[in-house]
Amino acid sequence: MNIRKSLRLGVNVDHVATIRNARGGTHPDPLKAAMLAIKAGADGITAHLREDRRHIHDDDILAIRETIDAPLNFEMAATEEMVSFALKIRPNAACIVPERREELTTEGGLAVIQQEENLKKLLKPLKLAGIRLSLFIEANLTDIDAAKRIGADIVELHTGRYCNNIPGRPAELLRLKRAAGHSLSNGIEAHAGHGLCFDTVSAIAAIPEMRELNIGHFLIGESVFCGLECSIKKMREKIDAARCQNMTAQ
Ligand code: PXP
Repeated sequence: MNIRKSLRLGVNVDHVATIRNARGGTHPDPLKAAMLAIKAGADGITAHLREDRRHIHDDDILAIRETIDAPLNFEMAATEEMVSFALKIRPNAACIVPERREELTTEGGLAVIQQEENLKKLLKPLKLAGIRLSLFIEANLTDIDAAKRIGADIVELHTGRYCNNIPGRPAELLRLKRAAGHSLSNGIEAHAGHGLCFDTVSAIAAIPEMRELNIGHFLIGESVFCGLECSIKKMREKIDAARCQNMTAQ
Protein backbone atom coordinates (compact mmCIF):
# COMPACT_ATOMS: atom_id res chain seq x y z
CA MET A 1 0.00 0.00 0.00
CA ASN A 2 1.11 3.56 -0.66
CA ILE A 3 1.95 4.72 2.87
CA ARG A 4 1.43 8.35 2.05
CA LYS A 5 -1.98 7.76 0.53
CA SER A 6 -3.07 5.59 3.45
CA LEU A 7 -3.31 8.63 5.73
CA ARG A 8 -4.29 11.97 4.28
CA LEU A 9 -3.32 15.31 5.79
CA GLY A 10 -5.85 18.12 5.72
CA VAL A 11 -4.47 21.54 6.59
CA ASN A 12 -6.82 23.87 8.42
CA VAL A 13 -6.22 27.48 7.33
CA ASP A 14 -8.57 29.19 9.82
CA HIS A 15 -5.79 30.85 11.75
CA VAL A 16 -4.27 32.48 8.69
CA ALA A 17 -7.57 34.36 8.61
CA THR A 18 -7.28 35.05 12.36
CA ILE A 19 -3.99 36.89 11.75
CA ARG A 20 -5.41 38.74 8.74
CA ASN A 21 -8.48 39.82 10.69
CA ALA A 22 -6.37 41.21 13.53
CA ARG A 23 -5.68 44.18 11.24
CA GLY A 24 -8.75 43.96 9.04
CA GLY A 25 -6.86 43.96 5.73
CA THR A 26 -6.17 41.23 3.19
CA HIS A 27 -2.82 39.90 4.41
CA PRO A 28 -2.09 37.05 5.02
CA ASP A 29 -4.51 35.49 2.55
CA PRO A 30 -5.97 32.06 3.52
CA LEU A 31 -6.26 31.16 -0.18
CA LYS A 32 -2.53 31.70 -0.70
CA ALA A 33 -1.86 29.58 2.39
CA ALA A 34 -4.14 26.84 1.08
CA MET A 35 -2.31 26.80 -2.27
CA LEU A 36 1.04 26.60 -0.50
CA ALA A 37 -0.27 23.83 1.78
CA ILE A 38 -1.16 21.66 -1.21
CA LYS A 39 2.25 22.36 -2.76
CA ALA A 40 3.91 21.31 0.52
CA GLY A 41 2.16 17.94 0.62
CA ALA A 42 -1.30 18.46 2.12
CA ASP A 43 -4.01 16.29 0.57
CA GLY A 44 -6.84 18.65 1.29
CA ILE A 45 -7.90 21.91 2.92
CA THR A 46 -10.09 22.31 5.97
CA ALA A 47 -11.79 25.56 6.93
CA HIS A 48 -14.47 26.43 9.48
CA LEU A 49 -16.97 29.14 8.61
CA ARG A 50 -18.13 30.13 12.08
CA GLU A 51 -21.45 31.72 12.77
CA ASP A 52 -19.66 34.85 14.07
CA ARG A 53 -17.15 34.83 11.13
CA ARG A 54 -14.31 35.36 13.60
CA HIS A 55 -11.70 33.91 11.22
CA ILE A 56 -12.71 32.48 7.84
CA HIS A 57 -15.18 34.60 5.84
CA ASP A 58 -17.66 33.51 3.18
CA ASP A 59 -15.42 34.90 0.40
CA ASP A 60 -12.46 32.86 1.66
CA ILE A 61 -14.42 29.65 1.26
CA LEU A 62 -15.67 30.66 -2.19
CA ALA A 63 -12.13 31.51 -3.32
CA ILE A 64 -10.69 28.23 -1.97
CA ARG A 65 -13.46 26.23 -3.61
CA GLU A 66 -13.01 27.99 -6.96
CA THR A 67 -9.21 27.85 -7.05
CA ILE A 68 -8.15 24.63 -5.38
CA ASP A 69 -8.76 21.21 -6.93
CA ALA A 70 -7.87 19.27 -3.79
CA PRO A 71 -10.77 18.22 -1.51
CA LEU A 72 -12.34 20.82 0.78
CA ASN A 73 -13.46 19.65 4.21
CA PHE A 74 -15.95 22.35 5.15
CA GLU A 75 -16.45 22.63 8.91
CA MET A 76 -19.82 23.97 9.91
CA ALA A 77 -22.32 24.16 12.73
CA ALA A 78 -25.60 22.28 12.36
CA THR A 79 -27.70 25.29 11.35
CA GLU A 80 -30.02 26.03 8.41
CA GLU A 81 -27.72 28.89 7.34
CA MET A 82 -24.68 26.61 7.09
CA VAL A 83 -26.56 23.82 5.35
CA SER A 84 -27.65 26.35 2.67
CA PHE A 85 -24.09 27.60 2.31
CA ALA A 86 -22.72 24.06 1.99
CA LEU A 87 -25.29 23.24 -0.68
CA LYS A 88 -24.10 26.32 -2.59
CA ILE A 89 -20.39 25.49 -2.48
CA ARG A 90 -20.67 21.69 -2.52
CA PRO A 91 -17.54 20.75 -0.58
CA ASN A 92 -16.18 17.20 -0.71
CA ALA A 93 -17.10 16.77 2.92
CA ALA A 94 -19.15 18.74 5.41
CA CYS A 95 -17.78 18.26 8.91
CA ILE A 96 -20.41 19.10 11.51
CA VAL A 97 -18.91 20.64 14.64
CA PRO A 98 -20.43 22.00 17.85
CA GLU A 99 -20.18 25.77 18.07
CA ARG A 100 -20.45 28.07 21.06
CA ARG A 101 -19.83 31.78 20.71
CA GLU A 102 -17.95 32.10 23.97
CA GLU A 103 -15.44 29.29 23.25
CA LEU A 104 -11.93 30.01 21.94
CA THR A 105 -11.94 26.89 19.76
CA THR A 106 -14.06 23.76 19.22
CA GLU A 107 -13.63 22.42 22.73
CA GLY A 108 -15.32 19.03 22.44
CA GLY A 109 -17.20 16.71 20.15
CA LEU A 110 -20.81 17.00 19.03
CA ALA A 111 -23.54 15.86 21.42
CA VAL A 112 -24.76 13.40 18.79
CA ILE A 113 -27.16 11.28 20.81
CA GLN A 114 -28.98 14.25 22.34
CA GLN A 115 -29.79 15.76 18.93
CA GLU A 116 -29.90 12.65 16.77
CA GLU A 117 -33.30 13.20 15.15
CA ASN A 118 -32.65 16.89 14.60
CA LEU A 119 -29.25 16.22 12.96
CA LYS A 120 -30.69 13.49 10.76
CA LYS A 121 -33.39 15.81 9.44
CA LEU A 122 -31.24 18.92 9.08
CA LEU A 123 -28.33 17.15 7.35
CA LYS A 124 -30.32 15.01 4.95
CA PRO A 125 -30.08 17.57 2.08
CA LEU A 126 -26.27 17.36 2.29
CA LYS A 127 -26.40 13.58 1.88
CA LEU A 128 -28.85 13.90 -1.01
CA ALA A 129 -26.49 16.38 -2.69
CA GLY A 130 -23.68 13.79 -2.54
CA ILE A 131 -21.62 15.71 0.03
CA ARG A 132 -19.81 13.33 2.39
CA LEU A 133 -21.12 13.79 5.89
CA SER A 134 -18.59 13.94 8.70
CA LEU A 135 -19.40 14.36 12.41
CA PHE A 136 -16.78 15.73 14.82
CA ILE A 137 -17.23 13.59 17.92
CA GLU A 138 -15.53 12.36 21.06
CA ALA A 139 -14.06 8.86 20.78
CA ASN A 140 -17.15 7.16 22.25
CA LEU A 141 -18.54 3.99 20.72
CA THR A 142 -22.13 5.05 21.45
CA ASP A 143 -21.58 8.32 19.54
CA ILE A 144 -20.24 6.32 16.58
CA ASP A 145 -23.35 4.14 16.65
CA ALA A 146 -25.50 7.30 16.62
CA ALA A 147 -23.38 8.73 13.78
CA LYS A 148 -24.14 5.61 11.77
CA ARG A 149 -27.89 5.99 12.39
CA ILE A 150 -27.65 9.62 11.24
CA GLY A 151 -25.99 8.46 8.02
CA ALA A 152 -22.46 9.79 8.58
CA ASP A 153 -19.82 8.67 6.08
CA ILE A 154 -17.02 9.86 8.37
CA VAL A 155 -16.43 10.49 12.04
CA GLU A 156 -13.66 12.88 12.97
CA LEU A 157 -12.43 11.91 16.42
CA HIS A 158 -11.59 14.82 18.72
CA THR A 159 -7.95 14.46 19.85
CA GLY A 160 -8.05 17.37 22.33
CA ARG A 161 -8.20 15.12 25.40
CA TYR A 162 -5.23 13.09 24.14
CA CYS A 163 -3.16 16.18 23.38
CA ASN A 164 -4.00 18.19 26.50
CA ASN A 165 -3.81 15.55 29.21
CA ILE A 166 -0.24 14.23 29.26
CA PRO A 167 -0.63 11.72 32.14
CA GLY A 168 -3.91 10.51 30.62
CA ARG A 169 -2.47 9.89 27.15
CA PRO A 170 -2.20 6.07 27.26
CA ALA A 171 -5.88 5.74 28.21
CA GLU A 172 -6.95 8.37 25.65
CA LEU A 173 -4.92 6.68 22.93
CA LEU A 174 -6.63 3.38 23.68
CA ARG A 175 -10.01 5.09 23.44
CA LEU A 176 -9.08 6.61 20.07
CA LYS A 177 -7.82 3.24 18.77
CA ARG A 178 -11.00 1.47 19.83
CA ALA A 179 -13.14 4.19 18.30
CA ALA A 180 -11.24 4.08 14.98
CA GLY A 181 -11.66 0.28 14.86
CA HIS A 182 -15.36 0.53 15.73
CA SER A 183 -15.88 3.14 13.00
CA LEU A 184 -14.25 1.00 10.36
CA SER A 185 -16.20 -2.10 11.34
CA ASN A 186 -19.38 -0.03 10.95
CA GLY A 187 -18.37 1.17 7.48
CA ILE A 188 -17.53 4.70 8.69
CA GLU A 189 -14.22 6.34 7.78
CA ALA A 190 -12.17 7.50 10.79
CA HIS A 191 -10.50 10.91 10.81
CA ALA A 192 -8.94 12.76 13.74
CA GLY A 193 -7.96 16.27 14.70
CA HIS A 194 -7.61 19.01 17.28
CA GLY A 195 -4.46 20.07 19.07
CA LEU A 196 -2.11 17.82 17.09
CA CYS A 197 1.53 18.93 16.95
CA PHE A 198 4.93 17.39 16.17
CA ASP A 199 4.96 15.69 19.60
CA THR A 200 1.46 14.21 19.48
CA VAL A 201 0.89 13.35 15.82
CA SER A 202 2.90 10.11 15.58
CA ALA A 203 0.80 7.98 17.95
CA ILE A 204 -2.40 9.07 16.22
CA ALA A 205 -0.94 8.58 12.73
CA ALA A 206 0.09 5.05 13.68
CA ILE A 207 -3.53 3.96 14.28
CA PRO A 208 -4.01 1.72 11.22
CA GLU A 209 -7.74 2.47 10.75
CA MET A 210 -7.15 6.24 10.63
CA ARG A 211 -7.62 7.73 7.16
CA GLU A 212 -7.20 11.51 7.61
CA LEU A 213 -5.77 13.98 10.10
CA ASN A 214 -6.85 17.62 10.10
CA ILE A 215 -4.32 19.99 11.63
CA GLY A 216 -4.36 23.76 11.85
CA HIS A 217 -3.28 25.83 14.82
CA PHE A 218 0.11 24.22 15.37
CA LEU A 219 1.07 24.32 11.68
CA ILE A 220 0.21 27.99 11.31
CA GLY A 221 1.98 28.81 14.60
CA GLU A 222 5.08 26.83 13.65
CA SER A 223 5.23 28.63 10.31
CA VAL A 224 6.25 31.78 12.23
CA PHE A 225 9.54 30.01 12.92
CA CYS A 226 10.21 28.00 9.78
CA GLY A 227 7.62 29.00 7.17
CA LEU A 228 4.37 27.30 6.22
CA GLU A 229 5.85 24.99 3.61
CA CYS A 230 8.50 23.77 6.05
CA SER A 231 6.06 23.20 8.91
CA ILE A 232 3.71 21.18 6.68
CA LYS A 233 6.56 19.16 5.14
CA LYS A 234 7.89 18.32 8.59
CA MET A 235 4.43 17.24 9.75
CA ARG A 236 4.00 15.15 6.61
CA GLU A 237 7.34 13.44 7.30
CA LYS A 238 6.32 12.62 10.87
CA ILE A 239 2.98 11.22 9.72
CA ASP A 240 4.58 9.09 6.98
CA ALA A 241 7.30 7.81 9.34
CA ALA A 242 4.73 6.76 11.98
CA ARG A 243 2.64 5.08 9.31
CA CYS A 244 5.65 3.30 7.85
CA GLN A 245 6.83 2.03 11.24
CA ASN A 246 3.37 0.81 12.03
CA MET A 247 3.10 -1.07 8.73
CA THR A 248 6.47 -2.72 8.99
CA ALA A 249 5.62 -3.79 12.58
CA GLN A 250 2.46 -5.58 11.36
N1 PXP B 1 -10.77 19.23 13.02
C1 PXP B 1 -11.85 19.93 13.45
C2 PXP B 1 -13.19 19.33 13.22
C3 PXP B 1 -11.71 21.20 14.06
O1 PXP B 1 -12.79 21.87 14.46
C4 PXP B 1 -10.42 21.74 14.18
C5 PXP B 1 -10.24 23.09 14.78
O2 PXP B 1 -10.71 23.10 16.05
C6 PXP B 1 -9.33 20.98 13.74
C7 PXP B 1 -9.54 19.74 13.17
C8 PXP B 1 -7.93 21.50 13.84
O3 PXP B 1 -7.56 21.68 15.15
P1 PXP B 1 -6.21 22.45 15.47
O4 PXP B 1 -6.36 23.82 14.91
O5 PXP B 1 -6.13 22.39 16.95
O6 PXP B 1 -5.11 21.69 14.79
